[in-house]
Amino acid sequence: MKRIDLLLAATLSVALPAGAADLPDPHSQGAALLMGYCSQCHGAPQPSAHVASEWPQVVARMQNWRITKGMGEIPKKDVEPIIDYLKRHARP
Ligand code: HEC
Repeated sequence: MKRIDLLLAATLSVALPAGAADLPDPHSQGAALLMGYCSQCHGAPQPSAHVASEWPQVVARMQNWRITKGMGEIPKKDVEPIIDYLKRHARP
């Protein structure tokens, strides 16, 4: 891991500390997908971090990070349930 990645990981683990048990509706498909795809670079984010209308653009930015890191985009069949889940439990 490069120094900058370590620094980023350390910063993000403070900002995004969620584990599966902390997520709303933890046994749902959305929570499982979020844990799978969204905790590879930082802790899984809390849906309450954003209002529903903001989540699609946040996820789009994360797709770009995945491309930058050579991980490839999350497939459409998985990214849609993730966005639905985030919106359903978003900050009101
Ligand atoms: C390839 C690595 C990577 C993956 C995978 C990833 N993220 Fe991120 N995430 C980042 C980086 C880097 C930042 C800090 C820079 C930024 O905000 O764009 C970040 C920051 C965040 C933030 C805090 C900033 C904000 O706008 O609130 C949230 C929330 C977030 N990510 C959500 C997600 C979600 C949801 C997923 C899964 C769909 C995800 N991340 C997957 C790299 C990643």
